[in-house]
Amino acid sequence: MRKTVKYCAVYPGTFDPLTLGHLHIVKRGLTHFDTIVIACSVGEHKHTLFSLEERLNLLRQCFKPFGKRVVIDSFDMLLVHYLQQQKIHTILRGIRTVGDFEYEHQMSLANRTLDPKIETVFMLTDDHYSHLSSSLIKEIAALGGNVGAMVPTAVAKALKSKLPKRVKS
Ligand code: COA
Repeated sequence: MRKTVKYCAVYPGTFDPLTLGHLHIVKRGLTHFDTIVIACSVGEHKHTLFSLEERLNLLRQCFKPFGKRVVIDSFDMLLVHYLQQQKIHTILRGIRTVGDFEYEHQMSLANRTLDPKIETVFMLTDDHYSHLSSSLIKEIAALGGNVGAMVPTAVAKALKSKLPKRVKS
């Protein structure tokens, strides 16, 4: 039988920068959704290292191999308003730890109160990546550590050129 319904989800985040953990969630999400829209928050609540354009460019580069099933976009409004604008009813979120669960629980209920049609689908972050966060990676890179096992190659290169070289005294 021909499938007529398209299943789409929005995967929101600041992606400052994208990590292998985020990438893995999208990869696994594509086994359940036809299309995933990666919605990059302008991130005014965070002092981002990368500008919005830089973050979007890195997302475009890293998700190029996934073709049209991954759409890269940005948003600067309430997440539920963005979903309404896109006519998408599902938010995809990764959960790394019990700590994430509490935050996600609150966000999901708040979003559902704002729009009862919107559902959040959670995926557990793979063990390999559950200790990662963008801030941790930026700190390691800033102190000269190797982040090659934590971020895609393009992100590792961008971090290297963005962060000032530490001069040993
Ligand atoms: N692997 C590795 N790291 C991960 C990860 C994964 N699978 N999932 C999340 N992280 C990291 C992120 O890199 C981020 O690290 P950082 O805090 O060091 O930068 C951290 O976990 C938190 O990620 P997340 O919860 O996705 O925060 P965010 O800032 O990237 O995104 C928004 C939060 C944008 C989704 C949220 O603020 C939002 O919806 N904003 C829109 C305004 C709105 O609607 N507000 C009301 C919400 S009820």
